[in-house]
Amino acid sequence: MSRRRLLAGIAVLGTTSLLPRSALAAPNGLSPKIDALIAKMTLEEKIGQLTLYPDEVRPTPRPINPDINAQAEARDRARFQYAEIRAGRVGALLAGTGVALGRDLQKAALESRLGIPLMFGADVVHGLRTIFPLPIALAASFEPALAEQTARAAAQEMSAVGVHWTYAPMIDVARDQRWGRVAEGSGEDPYLTARFAEAYVRGFQGDDLTSPRSVASCPKHFAGYGGVLGGMEYNATDLSERELRQTHLPPFKAAFNAGAITTMAAFNDIDGVPASGNAKLLTGILRDEWKFPGFVVSDAGSAEELVAHGVAADEAEAAALALNAGVDMNMGGGLYKRHLPALVASGKVPMAHVDEAVRRVLLVKERLGLFDDPFRSLDPKREAREVRTPAALALARSAATRSVVLLKNEGNVLPLRKDARVALIGPLGDDPANMDGTWAPWAKTGEAVTLAQGLRAALPADRLRVVKGSDIHTALPGGIDAAVAAAREADIVILAIGEGQDMSGEARSRVEITVPHAQQALADAVAATGRPVVVVLGTGRALALHGAVRDASAIVVGWFLGSAGGLALADVLTGKAAPSGRLPVSFPQDSGQQPFYYNHKSTGRPQAPGEAAFFKARYVEVSNEALYPFGFGLGYASVTYGEPTLSSAALPWDGSIEATVEVRNTGTRPVEEVVQLYIRDMAASVTRPVRELKGFRKVTLAPGEAQRIRFTIARKDLTFVGSDLTWQAEAGAFDLWIAPSSAAGRPVRFMLGKA
Ligand code: GLC
Repeated sequence: MSRRRLLAGIAVLGTTSLLPRSALAAPNGLSPKIDALIAKMTLEEKIGQLTLYPDEVRPTPRPINPDINAQAEARDRARFQYAEIRAGRVGALLAGTGVALGRDLQKAALESRLGIPLMFGADVVHGLRTIFPLPIALAASFEPALAEQTARAAAQEMSAVGVHWTYAPMIDVARDQRWGRVAEGSGEDPYLTARFAEAYVRGFQGDDLTSPRSVASCPKHFAGYGGVLGGMEYNATDLSERELRQTHLPPFKAAFNAGAITTMAAFNDIDGVPASGNAKLLTGILRDEWKFPGFVVSDAGSAEELVAHGVAADEAEAAALALNAGVDMNMGGGLYKRHLPALVASGKVPMAHVDEAVRRVLLVKERLGLFDDPFRSLDPKREAREVRTPAALALARSAATRSVVLLKNEGNVLPLRKDARVALIGPLGDDPANMDGTWAPWAKTGEAVTLAQGLRAALPADRLRVVKGSDIHTALPGGIDAAVAAAREADIVILAIGEGQDMSGEARSRVEITVPHAQQALADAVAATGRPVVVVLGTGRALALHGAVRDASAIVVGWFLGSAGGLALADVLTGKAAPSGRLPVSFPQDSGQQPFYYNHKSTGRPQAPGEAAFFKARYVEVSNEALYPFGFGLGYASVTYGEPTLSSAALPWDGSIEATVEVRNTGTRPVEEVVQLYIRDMAASVTRPVRELKGFRKVTLAPGEAQRIRFTIARKDLTFVGSDLTWQAEAGAFDLWIAPSSAAGRPVRFMLGKA
């Protein structure tokens, strides 16, 4: 990277506060000492800094990746890895935790000729040992501050066990709920995802990246992974550059503006060019346009996979394509080690590209303070006392409680009556192995509180019966009979059903996003007893609800809430806490509607809500609406919205107007309401969504209380990516809603004046 660009990058990212003083002195962002180091490095040592292997000395408790490091025989992999590290041929390790062996590994690195410290990375996406709600669940809180707090707590915990770098946040905008990785992100909306992206980065990196309690973040997967066709994992995408820039890039720009200093190249292709070999993306946009100063790491094997994509004839070509495009560090089994020496010798990879990549990696290591203190975050005293702390567990409970979404509450069956006899039925009622969600490889099964345990702590012993009724995918002998019997003796049934936690996450795309058949049969049988049923859904994605599940008296989305999940759910079900979550993903009427998202285009034949007309943009079987729309959720009190009022119906090109609405709690309990601001550009030079979220405010209303909520609108809120691929606004008419969901409210019109 040119010195000018790097300095500009630092200025743009406003990350000067992250740089140690020494680094600020150098023209290319590096301290003179580190800059001089590069000049001493052999090519082999440079390639070593660009090489990330799975940690063979400290393997994870359970496999989290296909075996991508066939570097040596299983029997001597650890010894082999130590030798590679001492030879200066390793820059970073993946997924290892533990201070004692971490210190040994770092000592080995310091014994190498130049003594460049290792960087330890791990996938701590929603907690290491204190498991916070799945990101999709936390997004439902509509409280980015919770993301910052939980990321901060996760950073403290992971850095207590020797992790410097987390492969998070995952900020892919997911438009198709069949895709399993919906679970790891913040939903279907770019604006909401961007607010959470920046919050996660602030939490992970803190105010001082050299602090041993801060970790480098790695917003992923750059970019467009959420657009995989058919929601099929690892599939191709068919994204125009306009759609990429309009929908999928804004969360990354927000993350980088918040100071994120690494990013991960995605598996997917973009308009025919795989992200991990895409110079336009990794250099044109990321470096030249955005001045990103950090480094790009490939996804696991994503550089090697350029061969399978059919854009590289062999691994050597794949290595050249990846490095020249801008993949600085290879996460895999030694691709750069095997091929870069010959590629540099032949000139297919200029040494200048290798040097730039090395500079970026050393910049991050310097910003982490690893040169000043290679044993930062490798303190045995911290490891002994800063994991699963009471404060972290209390935060896990609070965050989980605030992520629960109440979709239905007919007859106000919730909160549970104090004297109610409760039958907790279903495979997710008391299963410790299905509480943490995907990406919890360090969680210890049995540590998370189940719903049954939460209810036992909240209800009198003789008021609760727990019956499994069925397994996740299969019926249990006598299961339904036992469940029906328990339901008959109860006043109300809590039916804890849904997906197993291994049904979402990576490599977990589903063709039908429904409750597994065995559980649907259980639900139908329990419903036939006539007892009121409260469905509590365990899920990492939106589901298509049918039959007795859809017709239950109440429906609660419990996602996978982590360590305190059962306590949080019990808090909400008993009324100790009120549900305040809102859907970050649309729940469709049917799986067949996927991909489905609220901010869709109008088309030339839009179907008005409830309109029965045939020749309209819809399916024969179902209307083009969600069963439960993005932004929807209920509390334990009803809230009314007045008509939005505008300070003016004319927004000057360089001015602003205010939009105000009165919201009132008309119930008898306190309520937390997420007041949402949407706009629609009525006529532009390109087709625009029927609604776009542009702001939200979560407010608490006491019984009977009214508040006036105010949003300021300016031209920057109305921009879109035009045909010339630049962000722009156009004068003209806009509709504006302030509403409780993406499908509610009546619009008011305003005009954006000409420049
Ligand atoms: C996986 C995932 C990525 C993760 C990486 C390391 O394949 O795509 O999100 O960070 O490998 O585990």
